Amino acid sequence: MIRMINMPMPKADILVVDDNEMNVRVLEALLVSRGHDVRVARDGEEALEQIDKKHPDLVLLDVMMPKIDGFQVLENVRSNRETELIPIILLTALSDIDSNVKGIELGADDFITKPFNKSLLMARVRNLLRGKNLLDELESVDAVIAMTAKIIEAKDKYTEGHVERVTTYAVKLGEAAGLEEWDLRNLKRGALLHDLGKIAVPDAVLNKEGKLSEEEWKHILLHPSIGADILQDLKSLKAVVDIVLHHHEKLDGSGYPDKLKGDEITKESRIMAIADIYDALTTTRSYKKSMSPETAIRILQEEAQAGKLDSELVMLFSRLVKDGIFDAISE
Ligand SMILES: [Fe+2]
Repeated sequence: MIRMINMPMPKADILVVDDNEMNVRVLEALLVSRGHDVRVARDGEEALEQIDKKHPDLVLLDVMMPKIDGFQVLENVRSNRETELIPIILLTALSDIDSNVKGIELGADDFITKPFNKSLLMARVRNLLRGKNLLDELESVDAVIAMTAKIIEAKDKYTEGHVERVTTYAVKLGEAAGLEEWDLRNLKRGALLHDLGKIAVPDAVLNKEGKLSEEEWKHILLHPSIGADILQDLKSLKAVVDIVLHHHEKLDGSGYPDKLKGDEITKESRIMAIADIYDALTTTRSYKKSMSPETAIRILQEEAQAGKLDSELVMLFSRLVKDGIFDAISE
């Protein structure tokens, strides 16, 4: 606990929203003295304009204000995907329990009652900013993943655009299959990184025109395990590692590297397998020409009938293809 209190608080861009001049001055002085940049809005309308102009790291929001009140600002910020995660502390009157409850229900992260206890206010500000920093870090993880995906693709000249297309196929199929938001996020990360292990496959093998020798195939077969090994120390990517490791498994145990069967293969990995195979079939590779979507779907259906791919997911995917969901991205 002491360690947390002593941790330096990062400098943040904080928006103070209050129509009471005195409150604004007190809060501004307090926050500036801790090294933060402070912006001020005197009513709800101005607050929304300021948030729109540049997303602050934190908002201190008064409830009772002219024009648009604090609750409406809160609702507006939470209903917008771009701003929904901005931490908001409501400023309410001590006796106003109902407002506090309503505020939390509408998505306020915390509230502080007037008159402020400075230490309590600063402790809450510090906590929320720490959470915000973690979220920002997660976003940078996604940026690194996107960059890594480009590196993977640059290595294999025949699979240009493959990662991006497979990711689109997988995420759309995941949505159609009813995956939760967090699982979809991991599926997207897994799709972007699924062939990471190809970094360790010799270029001469990856780009070879024609059939691979048995020895060359051994290199290819290792790419899921190598990719998973590279990622395994990243705690936030645990679920992603499973997708990378098992995107070539088949329900009947004929896949690789672990020869998993049936329920041993997660829904995310089954989805990845379908997306990956469909893209391989519909694009030109060093060893073959591309197929039409109809032929590719027929092959996926045959694979499902043979007990290799998840029939329900293949059916959902066929429907997406038929509905033209992917027309814009197919080769
Ligand atoms: Fe692969």
